[in-house]
Amino acid sequence: MCGSYCTFKSAMAAIERLCRVYDVTPIMSEASSVTDTRFGEAADFRRRFEELSGREIVDSIKKAEPIGPKKLLDVLIIVPCTGNTIAKMANGITDSSVTMAAKAHLRNERPVVLAVSTNDALSANAQNIGKLLARKNIYFVPFRQDDPAGKPCSLVARFDLIEDTVAAAMEGRQLQPLLAVN
Ligand SMILES: Cc1cc2nc3c(=O)[nH]c(=O)nc-3n(C[C@H](O)[C@H](O)[C@H](O)COP(=O)(O)O)c2cc1C
Repeated sequence: MCGSYCTFKSAMAAIERLCRVYDVTPIMSEASSVTDTRFGEAADFRRRFEELSGREIVDSIKKAEPIGPKKLLDVLIIVPCTGNTIAKMANGITDSSVTMAAKAHLRNERPVVLAVSTNDALSANAQNIGKLLARKNIYFVPFRQDDPAGKPCSLVARFDLIEDTVAAAMEGRQLQPLLAVN
């Protein structure tokens, strides 16, 4: 999880569904694991994530590092994925638990699934999304403009399509259509 707090409720619902099917390792960015916002308290989200997965949160670069050498994950799902983390991943910056997990996991040539949620997806981060679309082993949960009139540069993934995106990614395919209309 990254710090797109307004999507935490729907992200947690998706995580709950995933935990019923998969053995889930919970990873939170440092920002998302400590920040209380009007969308909820960090401690409550941490507790819920640990309850659902039955494991301790990976919330530091040090805790995420073994994902590479120990080949701990089959697929890494970043839900929600912020503009900040997209920008870092697109440009080889590894300074958080989530970007470390991505770097470590990609080293093993295994799939990463991104569920984007950011207001600058069609502005400052458009080039970074473009870079990641062209990158091997990176897949996107189909996304849509969530408020074209009010937030014309914002994109949000269709969280209800996460399971289908993961299934396709594990077969080496991008779920289509990538551009959701609703
Ligand atoms: C209340 C609140 C809501 C936010 N919502 C978003 C969001 O939806 N998308 C986004 O990209 N960043 C959002 N941010 C900014 C990120 O939390 C910030 O860029 C942070 O550094 C992200 O770190 P991370 O990518 O390591 O989780 C929000 C911040 C706050 C305080």
